[in-house]
Amino acid sequence: MLVTVLGASGRTGSHVVRLLRRHGHTVKAGLRSRQRGQHAAALGAEPVLADLTTDPAGLVEVFLGSDAVINTAGAADPDPSAVNMVDRDGTIAAIGAAERAGVARFVQLSAQFADSPDQGDRLVRSFLLAKQVSDSALRRSSLIWTLVRPGNLTDDPATGRVKVAGHLEPGRVPRADVAAVLVAALDEPFTENRGFDVVSGDTPVTAALAAFS
Ligand SMILES: NC(=O)c1ccc[n+]([C@@H]2O[C@H](COP(=O)([O-])OP(=O)(O)OC[C@H]3O[C@@H](n4cnc5c(N)ncnc54)[C@H](OP(=O)(O)O)[C@@H]3O)[C@@H](O)[C@H]2O)c1
Repeated sequence: MLVTVLGASGRTGSHVVRLLRRHGHTVKAGLRSRQRGQHAAALGAEPVLADLTTDPAGLVEVFLGSDAVINTAGAADPDPSAVNMVDRDGTIAAIGAAERAGVARFVQLSAQFADSPDQGDRLVRSFLLAKQVSDSALRRSSLIWTLVRPGNLTDDPATGRVKVAGHLEPGRVPRADVAAVLVAALDEPFTENRGFDVVSGDTPVTAALAAFS
């Protein structure tokens, strides 16, 4: 499968690129700057310029030929204007570009409580509201979508084990395990056109996704 990863230089995105390559996929690593390309190239991915906020037409070019897009990009700044620009409008632009490029599958890294921002942490309300809007746009799109909603991300080592359900109590989960879920979703038809929460748990990733069905 040819998979384009958005936010490939990020902490979760880097794990996604590494895992996709390990699973034998061909990978385009979407980056905002060519200077970040060395790491992606070392992992065997093709670095491509893909900024969600500046060049929607360029995104179509980037996505051409891709079977799937995994979007792990997100604003570094929690300021509402930044999250609205990247997590809301940028993601909506990427969804539209994927449709225009004929991509079949779109896996979105969302966040726990993005589907109910009023129940999430008030400190990240703007972020959750931005995600809520772009998640809705993905659901309404012509793409086969998956919305992965992790709890708080950590840099702990991968455990390979998670808990997956439509809705879960607030939790934490290593970025490496979330990356495994994002990649495994490509091969799990039960994740098509569905969204689910993910936190750390006891069940191996593929079994957790299969059990969710
Ligand atoms: N932090 C949490 O606890 C949490 C919880 C739930 C969900 N999430 C979601 O998970 C995402 C990934 O988290 P993370 O910690 O792996 O993030 P990260 O390390 O900060 O990586 C974010 C990535 O997004 C890229 N990016 C930023 N603006 C962009 C733009 N305009 N166009 C294209 N790419 C852009 C960054 O590129 P550069 O390297 O060029 O900056 C980077 O590659 C978050 O952004 C958020 O949406 C986070």
